[in-house]
Amino acid sequence: MLTLLVFLSLIYGLEGADVVLSCSLIEEGGGMGGMMGGSMFKRTPSTLVFRDLVGNADLSPELVTPYNPPETPNADDLIFELMLPTIQIPNADLLLHADCNEQEVVCEISRYVPRDADLDSLPAHFIGSVQLDGGGISLTLVLQTLHSETTLSHTQPLVQSTLNLTLSQAGTLLTEVVFVVFSRVPSIVAPIGSDVLLDCGFRQKVSVPGQEVALEWRLQHRGNGRKILDMKAREEETDTAPELFVDREGTSAEADLLVRDGNASLTMQRLKVTDEGTYICTVGSGEFQTQQIVQLHITQPPDVTLSEEKLIFQDSTPQKLSCHCQRYYPLDVQVEWFSQAPSAEEPVSLTKESSLSSHRQHSDGTYSLSSYLTLRPDEHPAGTVVTCRVSHFALETPRDVSLTAEKTEPRKAFWTVILMLAISVVFLYQAFRGAEN
Ligand SMILES: *[C@@H]1O[C@H](CO)[C@@H](O)[C@H](O)[C@H]1NC(C)=O
Ligand SMILES: *[C@@H]1O[C@H](CO)[C@@H](O)[C@H](O)[C@H]1NC(C)=O
Repeated sequence: MLTLLVFLSLIYGLEGADVVLSCSLIEEGGGMGGMMGGSMFKRTPSTLVFRDLVGNADLSPELVTPYNPPETPNADDLIFELMLPTIQIPNADLLLHADCNEQEVVCEISRYVPRDADLDSLPAHFIGSVQLDGGGISLTLVLQTLHSETTLSHTQPLVQSTLNLTLSQAGTLLTEVVFVVFSRVPSIVAPIGSDVLLDCGFRQKVSVPGQEVALEWRLQHRGNGRKILDMKAREEETDTAPELFVDREGTSAEADLLVRDGNASLTMQRLKVTDEGTYICTVGSGEFQTQQIVQLHITQPPDVTLSEEKLIFQDSTPQKLSCHCQRYYPLDVQVEWFSQAPSAEEPVSLTKESSLSSHRQHSDGTYSLSSYLTLRPDEHPAGTVVTCRVSHFALETPRDVSLTAEKTEPRKAFWTVILMLAISVVFLYQAFRGAEN
C-alpha cells in the first residue's frame, strides 16, 4: 500500500521553482471501532507544495507546469504549503528532475510531536517523508504550522476538517520546514572487503550555539535490530571528546562534521556479508529528532572455473564436465551451458541436460555451487566449443568459461596403460622372487 505519485509539477515562481507532490496523510486508528489488537491506519489524499525549492537559474520555462490552488478554498482539502526559510536541502533539484525522468515519488505525511510538547499544543507539527523511487534522494522533513494572515479578514477563518487547523486564505495549511534528515544515497551496493560511506545529513532552521547533536545508527536485518553507533557532540567542544559508542570494528562518524556541516554519514571499513541490511540514521537536535533509512546490499561476484583444462574423448566414453561458481553473494546464481560445433552458426543450449549441486555456504557468508554436464563424443566433434555461462547480480555481464573439444585419441592411451601394467607386474614378480631368496 504505497502511495504513488499522481502528479509532480512545478510553478515558476518569482524566487524559484516550486515542487508539488501528491501525498497521503497517515493517521492511526481509522475508525475501526470495536476491532481489538493492531491499530489501523487511515490514508487521506493530500498535497505537498514546496515553495521555492530550487533557484530557477537553471530551469527552462518549458519544464514548468503551473500548479493552481483550488479557486474556492475547501475545508476538506489538505494542502501543505512548505516554506524553506533558511534551510537548503542538498540535491533537492532531483525532485524537479524526477518529473522528466518519470521517476515515482513516495510521499507520506503524519502527525509529529516534538520533545516536551503534546499533541494538542500549537504550533502543530508534521513529518513528511519523501522518497524518489529507484534512489536519488530521500527526505524526512519536520513541518511546523505558521500563523496565517487571517486577522485582517472579516470572515471566519477556514478550519481544515480532518486536522482542525486554521487554513490560509488560499485554503492551504501554511508550514515551514524546521528540521530535515536526508540521504542522497538511500540505497548502496558494495563488495565484500570494501569500505563504504552511508550518506546521511541534517539541516535545521534554528541552531542554538553549543547545542548537543545526537546521532544514532542502527542496523535492522531479518527482524533483528542492533545499535552500531551512538554519538553525542557539541560545537566548540575543545577539550572534551564527544560521547561515543561503537559496536562494529572499523566504523566511524565525524563529530565535527556532524555539528559543523550537518553531516551524519557513517563510514564502515572491510565490509562483511553480515553488514548487509537496513541502516537507520537518527539525528536529534533540540526538540526535534527524526530518521532516514539507508539500505546496504553486499555483493561478491562468483569465481567461475571448469573442472577440466582440455576436452579429449577416449573412445566413446562420455566425459563429465563441472562448472564451479565459488564464493559469491547474494545467493541467486544462474548457470547455463552451450555448445557450438565448428560447422554450426548458432550455439545450442545444453542447460536442460545439466544438473546442479546444492548451495554450500562458507563461514564468510558467501556461497558456492557447481553445475555438471555429461558430454558424448559422437555429439561433440573436434572443434566444438562448450561454454559455461554464469549470471549473477554482482556481474555486469554474464561470465563465460569455454573449452574446445580436441581430436579423439583412439586406443593409444588404452594400450599405454596395458603396457605399463604389464611392466609393473613383471617388475613386481622379479622383486618378489629376489626377496624370497
Ligand atoms: C478544534 O480546535 C479548537 C481550538 O483550536 C478546539 O477548541 C476544538 O475543541 C477543536 N475541535 C475538535 C473537534 O477537536
Ligand atoms: C559527509 O562527508 C563525506 C566525507 O567528506 C562526504 O563524502 C559526504 O558526501 C558528506 N555527506 C553529507 C550528507 O554531507
